[in-house]
Amino acid sequence: MKKIITVIPGDGIGKEVVAGALHVLDVIAHKFKHTFDYKYALAGGAALDAQEVPLPEETLHLAKACDAVLLGAVGGPKWDSNPQHLKPERALLGLRKELGLYANIRPAKIYSALVDASSLKKEIVDGVDIIVVRELTGGLYFGKPSGFETRNGEEVGFNTMIYSVSEVKRIAESAFEIARKRKKKLCSVDKANVLETSQLWRKIVLEVAKQYPDVELTHMYVDNCAMQLIRDPKQFDVIVTENLFGDILSDEAAMLTGSIGMLASASLGGTVAMYEPVHGSAPDIAGQNKANPIATIASVAMMLKYSFDLSAESEAIEQAIEKVLSKGFRTGDIFTEGTTLLGTQEMAQKISEMI
Ligand code: IPM
Ligand code: MG
Repeated sequence: MKKIITVIPGDGIGKEVVAGALHVLDVIAHKFKHTFDYKYALAGGAALDAQEVPLPEETLHLAKACDAVLLGAVGGPKWDSNPQHLKPERALLGLRKELGLYANIRPAKIYSALVDASSLKKEIVDGVDIIVVRELTGGLYFGKPSGFETRNGEEVGFNTMIYSVSEVKRIAESAFEIARKRKKKLCSVDKANVLETSQLWRKIVLEVAKQYPDVELTHMYVDNCAMQLIRDPKQFDVIVTENLFGDILSDEAAMLTGSIGMLASASLGGTVAMYEPVHGSAPDIAGQNKANPIATIASVAMMLKYSFDLSAESEAIEQAIEKVLSKGFRTGDIFTEGTTLLGTQEMAQKISEMI
């Protein structure tokens, strides 16, 4: 199989974790006789420095024309005070919107070797296996109007939370499809006791549910969900929620598994999908070979499965990650007494060897 992948390392640790993941992908290509062609593109702070825009036209063009996109992370203190349209994060939002990636799939599964790395008690987290399906192109992130203006003599900032029926319907369908292939349990998370967008959300999710009588649907308010995720995470299988709630809850779900450095994601819905670690650019450890590349390596495994339909190849990566962890190899974020500390490159190398 021959595939073209647009590779956007981005900023901070993005460059290091992407290099590690591509090292693993090269090993897969060699072993299973595929050709993966990498087309490098700039986005985020790297693009701002080189071309003064966060998302250059050619990056978008490459992303639209390839078979899948791999992104590291964007952002950093250097660009934090930039005006809104020149923030590195705009690149990420632009790619999601332009590629039509409305369904963000964020699995939070605990590796048994890592139960001790979680900040929660072993019996609470052992066996956690959750997928957060986050709506990615609507809600507060994109709602208009938004901006700053002066009202009654003082400056205000404002955003609009808005969802249409079709936006809710398609993300609900994605979530039900995923739930159907798992434990057939879906929890829709909203704030319907307060927000109109959530009341519409709940109404449409209930309508979509009629097509999926085999899936057990529950509803939960987002504040309660935040609490339940810590109290008893094993009650959840698939969670579906709007953009900002999903942003927050997926970080929380990630932490159940020990480190956000472990969590992969796939953004689907358009003709080309994008894969990225859930974590950010971590400027504090950038360039020091300290970052955990596993989230990006696991994102590549998702790419093989979802975009290229290469299940055996995808599983080879997942098994290699499990083996390396069970042999006691760790990056700093998941290090515990008695395990072996590795750098970013060494971790990617170990996983490659295991494949
Ligand atoms: C994420 C990140 C992004 C988001 C930021 C970097 C714009 O937190 O992918 O979860 O808020 O969606
Ligand atoms: Mg986030």
